[in-house]
Amino acid sequence: MGISVRHLLGIEQLSPTDITTILDLAESYVDLNRQANKHSNVLAGLTQINMFFENSTRTQASFELAGKRLGADVMNMALGASSIKKGETLVDTALTLNAMNPDLLVMRHPQSGAVDLLSEKVNCAVLNAGDGRHEHPTQALLDALTIRRAKGRLHRLSVAICGDIAHSRVARSNIFLLNKMESRIRLIAPQTLLPSGIDKFGVEVFHDMNEGLKGVDVVMMLRLQRERMDGAFIPSEREYYHRWGLDVKKLANAKPDAIIMHPGPMNRGVEIDGDIADDVTRSVIQEQVEMGVAVRMAAMHLLADGLRTTKQGEATC
Ligand code: NCD
Repeated sequence: MGISVRHLLGIEQLSPTDITTILDLAESYVDLNRQANKHSNVLAGLTQINMFFENSTRTQASFELAGKRLGADVMNMALGASSIKKGETLVDTALTLNAMNPDLLVMRHPQSGAVDLLSEKVNCAVLNAGDGRHEHPTQALLDALTIRRAKGRLHRLSVAICGDIAHSRVARSNIFLLNKMESRIRLIAPQTLLPSGIDKFGVEVFHDMNEGLKGVDVVMMLRLQRERMDGAFIPSEREYYHRWGLDVKKLANAKPDAIIMHPGPMNRGVEIDGDIADDVTRSVIQEQVEMGVAVRMAAMHLLADGLRTTKQGEATC
């Protein structure tokens, strides 16, 4: 069973069946990752290049581990802003890398749309590891796997996404995914942290945490993306925590078995109380990290299958 796309650029391009196919395969990688021998040779002989033009800890580590466990030759390029600084355009970087015949290119970039552009210039499979405030598809997929394992399904759930929605690619990808899988989405944020045109997203909007969290199954908190803000979006961190930070009192509005999620990195005491984040009876934040490796293994496995099919097709032409 394959997926309908050649690249993983965003959730927007995936069908519900694609999403289920990735999550089902990821389940088998969760099992593999819990064994003493975590090796498979699904990507043996293939080259994976990770290009991170923006800082990353867990996503970069997760993609690297995923590729290595599947037997690929993995190369990491922590570009920071180095080649952007030298004035090399993204297209030149892409063409240079393409000449090295990679099979999988993983890219994170501060500009929305940069990864889509890359995919048009290369002849390998491209995976988006987060582009600006646009999409972060593997994060939404790992969130979905975490939710599905905790709640047994992805449809007819009530999911609250709280905080800096305006600057968050995690929020956008999750909104696409949860809408496709027929769950209800509530966005809870101050007016200043909501993107324009939010009414077209198929969501309910709340400005009050106590109201918005009433009866939800899942509480997803987001980090304040200060690096993407060019002005004062919140009164102060203290005031923000008071009104929109997740604490025990506000959480009491959600269902008693509601799970708490955060993509990391967390600002404890700003968007979430540290004790809640560490409460393993409610918080699935560590499980999200575990699911991340499995989901990335599944996504690269399926894209590599697609590459092989295309190459076979070309060979027989
Ligand atoms: C997210 C990202 O980079 O968009 N983090 C991640 O991938 N684990 C969210 C964030 O940085 O706040």
